Amino acid sequence: MSDSKLIDPFGRKIDYLRISVTDRCDFRCTYCMDENATFLPRRDILSLEEIVQVASSFVALGTRKIRITGGEPLVRKDILFALKQIAALPGLDELTITTNGSQLEKMGQQLYDAGVSRINISLDTLKRERFEELTRRDKLDQVLRGIKTVSKLPFKQLKLNAVILGGHNDDEIEDLVEFAIAHKMDISFIEEMPLGQISHHDRAKVYISSDELLERLQHRWQLSLSERSTGGPSRYYDIAGESQQVGFISPHSHNFCSTCNRVRLTAEGRLLLCLGNEHSKDLKSVLRTHPDDADLLQQSIIDSLVLKPEKHHFNLDEEPQILRFMSATGG
Ligand code: 5AD
Ligand code: SF4
Repeated sequence: MSDSKLIDPFGRKIDYLRISVTDRCDFRCTYCMDENATFLPRRDILSLEEIVQVASSFVALGTRKIRITGGEPLVRKDILFALKQIAALPGLDELTITTNGSQLEKMGQQLYDAGVSRINISLDTLKRERFEELTRRDKLDQVLRGIKTVSKLPFKQLKLNAVILGGHNDDEIEDLVEFAIAHKMDISFIEEMPLGQISHHDRAKVYISSDELLERLQHRWQLSLSERSTGGPSRYYDIAGESQQVGFISPHSHNFCSTCNRVRLTAEGRLLLCLGNEHSKDLKSVLRTHPDDADLLQQSIIDSLVLKPEKHHFNLDEEPQILRFMSATGG
């Protein structure tokens, strides 16, 4: 049990912070952004020092787990500097990152040395042409080399994340599970969320539920619901005969809001209380009007929790209600 001082109006204890360190990315995944996506001007992005200050306040308030995301977090200059400082915060149990894998070949060892304990790597397909269609970049080989690099290092856990779009990559779920097992990694399948307006496909048309994927996988493997909870939204299944697990993140079909223990810091310094709602608190203005006032920052964080809504309401049949993209928010 955590001793977090952050409790929301619905009694949920908040002990998990996700930090987006940049909205930029070297990929252009079709479900995430358009090719000509625009990014925030640099002055609007928190400095690494400011990010560390926010992380430090959260840890002082009882946060035990921090995940660094983007955009692509590893394209942010000097990110290792921030990772090292965050990993060293007394009281933090786990520093994790979510990445598209493009920099892992180069940075895997440094990430381990900096104190990162778990890595989630996005991998939606094992086919080169399809990878290029989905990410608009021909970088499958580079990502696979990165995966190989980190799979040889003693990280506590490595996990693959695959967003499954019906008719685009749902025929690969068995291959992806096999690949994960072969690399001693867990894998989660994610239902696409209506974050931001995209032009590549109609989100309602490619929707495929986690239950359908589970049923298909059960033809091949014996899967049983696991007790494990990672503090994330994944529901995990044990694979008979293997030590890896398959997870499902199902924002549409299995609402996970009642156990939500997390909040997000966007690259521009907004504290976002829910992925599926716009409620947020501008921490950047607190940081910039009162630099070095740690008490005020902590009080602002405590006060912002009243904004945390009970649940998200994603509806694929309507225009997206959330105009920001996952890249601006942190996955
Ligand atoms: N819906 C679901 N997952 C998304 N991701 C990015 N955009 C979306 C979306 N609209 C995923 C990425 C990555 C993780 C951070 O979030 O593929 O795995
Ligand atoms: Fe980049 Fe991740 Fe968005 Fe793909 S999903 S474009 S890797 S931020």
